[in-house]
Amino acid sequence: MADADPVSDFAAAVLAGLAASPKVIPARFFYDRTGSELFEAITRLPEYYPTRTEIGILADCAADIAARVGSGRAVVEFGSGSSAKTPPFLRAVGASAHVPIDISAEFLGMAAADLATKLPELNVYPLAADFTQPLVLPAEVAELPKLGFFPGSTLGNLGPAAAVDLLRAFGGTLGEAAFLVIGLDLRKPAEAIEPAYNDAAGVTAAFNLNLLHRINRELGGTIDTSAFAHRAFFNADLGRIEMHLAATRDTAFTVLGRPFRMAAGETIHTENSYKWTLDQARLLARAGGWEPVALWTDPVPLFAVHLWRRAAAAIEP
Ligand code: AVJ
Repeated sequence: MADADPVSDFAAAVLAGLAASPKVIPARFFYDRTGSELFEAITRLPEYYPTRTEIGILADCAADIAARVGSGRAVVEFGSGSSAKTPPFLRAVGASAHVPIDISAEFLGMAAADLATKLPELNVYPLAADFTQPLVLPAEVAELPKLGFFPGSTLGNLGPAAAVDLLRAFGGTLGEAAFLVIGLDLRKPAEAIEPAYNDAAGVTAAFNLNLLHRINRELGGTIDTSAFAHRAFFNADLGRIEMHLAATRDTAFTVLGRPFRMAAGETIHTENSYKWTLDQARLLARAGGWEPVALWTDPVPLFAVHLWRRAAAAIEP
């Protein structure tokens, strides 16, 4: 679906989401150019522990991963963005090829240029695509065993059912004998998670509010963004951070000419970020067609990197 019209995709999702009750806009629409830059800034915030914690774990476990999966695999990276985690990981696991997959052709181009300087010998076959849709990998890697790489707790944006579906789709894309390295944020008390989504500098608030600016820019919206505030809290029953844009007063606006109104206190739900215990993560693996092989955490622990192997089709007793 990489060729689907991105504006009408955004337009359809926003119109449907604002007409729904409660109001909701899918988190994937955060990532226009400004949103992607704001997310990069989030990853450097003192409160936002996941990125630097995962980089540390990967540095410590990559040799172990290499020993377990063997060198020479094609590393297929889902949602590669402009990740700084990638070059050291590719080097450590002795990748023979790299297939970065991202919706943004621009980000893919930047990542490929960065890799070309850091790992000039590596064959890179970028794929501009939506990895939540069925994928065909480049023919050049068809014969190579695959190592999926899905860092950053990106899976956390999906609830359990959608996460299982995506993991099954990854298995189909990567084929038999595949391994998957996946980073998942750990479930912790609310006080240990919430500051990462309510930073003192207000970068996460700007990231959330950019969605409204994006609607105004791209969909002719008339939203008064000063009538909205960033809200982020841990929903302990559902094991997820929720981000919302809350109307701070009664407000009315149009998007593509259609009228909407919100009462003070009403919110637009913009993101879920699920946090998984180690047991939940292993159950998720099995439900998604993978077998847990090994996992590594930081000492606290805040975050986990899991190694899974594609489950073989077997006759059950
Ligand atoms: C990219 C989905 C992993 O959930 O922590 C960061 C996105 N949202 N701050 C996350 C995000 C607010 C991030 N993921």
